[in-house]
Amino acid sequence: MKIFVYENREILGKEAAKFIASAIRKNPKLVLGLITGETPLECYKELVRMYQRGEVDFSQVKTFALDEYLELPLSHPYSCKSQLLETLLRYLNIPHKNMHFLDASSPNPASACQAYEEEIKRVGGIDLQLLGIGLNGHLGLNEPGSPFDSRTRIVELTETTKTYLARYFGERVPKKGMTMGLGTIMEAREILLMAHGQAKADIVAKALKGPVTTKVPASILQRHPACTVMLDKAAASRLP
Ligand code: PGA
Repeated sequence: MKIFVYENREILGKEAAKFIASAIRKNPKLVLGLITGETPLECYKELVRMYQRGEVDFSQVKTFALDEYLELPLSHPYSCKSQLLETLLRYLNIPHKNMHFLDASSPNPASACQAYEEEIKRVGGIDLQLLGIGLNGHLGLNEPGSPFDSRTRIVELTETTKTYLARYFGERVPKKGMTMGLGTIMEAREILLMAHGQAKADIVAKALKGPVTTKVPASILQRHPACTVMLDKAAASRLP
């Protein structure tokens, strides 16, 4: 793992955007796994600025959302799809057919998960997967206890995750979600994990330097051959 520590989340976001833009310049047909939540916001703002300045072209890029909430219309402002469109995708020149989302409105979400796996395979796999980390060490919605070889599937959210998500959903927090599995994530050719803020310091130290265990799903990343980690000082403050 290559670990980079930056002064604050703004600089982290800019460096992450540069990292992604450089991957797209090397491979204009990059297959990019995208995340939602607080973590990528600075990075996405910078990617939009870079696109507007003509520094990066997304016309051949394909994207796959990492996860989605169930029991929520996809048009809900905090569905992962809406968040990605509003914070990033609508500002870029990615053709709609190249944007992939987990379809939580499918009458058969389990087969939608299966179809997602097949679509990822059909495009040749994910080249660069972005990741954040949950307070309990989850990746996507792979909560503690998720098998390391898990695939895209329906999952129950833990109390920690539901409490965290109340900031978006109030009392109507989704209880379930769809998520790429840890096995799916680990097949990405390259991974960029980002984390900022003091609240993440403990779990970041456990994930990056503690034992590899399903109790801390993100610890599996220690076994990935090409994982870059970008942290701000606060998130890195408990690293040994
Ligand atoms: P956050 O969520 O980006 O809002 O901190 C990360 C996560 O829970 O995976």
